[in-house]
Amino acid sequence: MDIEKLISSFNELYKNRSDKPVLFFSPGRVNLIGEHTDYNSGFVLPCALNFGTYLLIRPGEGENINMASVNFDKQYSISTKDITRKIEGSWTNYPAGVITEFINRGLKITGMDMLFAGDIPNGAGLSSSASIEMVTAVALNELLDAGLERMELVKLCQHAENSFVGMNCGIMDQFAVGFGRRNSALFIDCGTLGHEIVPFNPDPYELIITNTNKRRGLTDSKYNERRSECDRAVELLQQYRKINSLTDIRHDELPVLDRFITDDVIKRRARHVITENMRVLKAVEVLKSGDLATFGALMNQSHESLRTDYEVTGFELDTLVHEAWKIDGVIGSRMTGAGFGGCTVSLVDNTKTENFITTLRESYSRLTGLTPDFYLPQIGEGASRLLYGE
Ligand code: GLA
Repeated sequence: MDIEKLISSFNELYKNRSDKPVLFFSPGRVNLIGEHTDYNSGFVLPCALNFGTYLLIRPGEGENINMASVNFDKQYSISTKDITRKIEGSWTNYPAGVITEFINRGLKITGMDMLFAGDIPNGAGLSSSASIEMVTAVALNELLDAGLERMELVKLCQHAENSFVGMNCGIMDQFAVGFGRRNSALFIDCGTLGHEIVPFNPDPYELIITNTNKRRGLTDSKYNERRSECDRAVELLQQYRKINSLTDIRHDELPVLDRFITDDVIKRRARHVITENMRVLKAVEVLKSGDLATFGALMNQSHESLRTDYEVTGFELDTLVHEAWKIDGVIGSRMTGAGFGGCTVSLVDNTKTENFITTLRESYSRLTGLTPDFYLPQIGEGASRLLYGE
């Protein structure tokens, strides 16, 4: 990101006053393994990325909260009294939702000037929403001297997304962008919110993210449908023993699904969550011992479970993954995020990345008529203030 240019845009937009705006950054995230487990109180293993959302912010002169983004044309000037009102279809609902959460905690909001700039592709499933929420939360926390703990900010952002934006997501994305650590994966137990930083150096492989560039359509409604199916499974399994979530069922108890769940769809949804939790635990173990080959195999198994049992992949994601598996030097490839479109994540021999990109671009385009995008990210830090020009 060209910070100098961002500062000139800010000064042009909000007139050049003497007090400098403060700069904050929040990353996007990629999930290595543990999909659709977070809202089942299960295990996930995401990483923060080195691209994300930047925010220049300064207390304003008037009562209004001025918001602009270099990624969108329209600018907004919303009075502090109206900020708790949702604007249908606007990107400003992400920061406004977070500001509303601060107001609901009794904090007094003043006018301010904000300029956002993101370098995460929107709608790619790399958590551009959690990133814009978290950059707002970390900035407000500092500017208002609110003193909220990082965990509180993570929960606050998830709540903003659930209740203000209206997307019923779990806690993984906000957690990953809030707590991510450079060159590490983040093992999160979404039931207890306990987490562990697991050093992750993919060398001699490279992490490659590939975007299907498929327009995501019914993601939200399908996502909610999966959530209800899991709730139904939990309800049925109460006949077996008292459980709070599917994560309470151990892997060696899988046969009970046949006994207590007759509906095949519900049974498969439960099986995905239970086996995926087991795969995450195993993935953490092999990552610690440096066994990347087994890690890659677990990624592949995760994709197949998401395809056949959880049914959240679809033609484009399956084509990307199945074509990737055929390429020399690929030890693991799977969909990442909510599914139905978005991205895949692959571990590829770092001397063979050129061939991976050319081969996959050719076969994916031929089979789907879409052109994929490739990102070669570094694993970055969680949200923070950035110093500039000091
Ligand atoms: C989306 C949600 C997350 C999580 C993933 C699936 O990214 O925001 O909370 O449920 O889907 O693992």
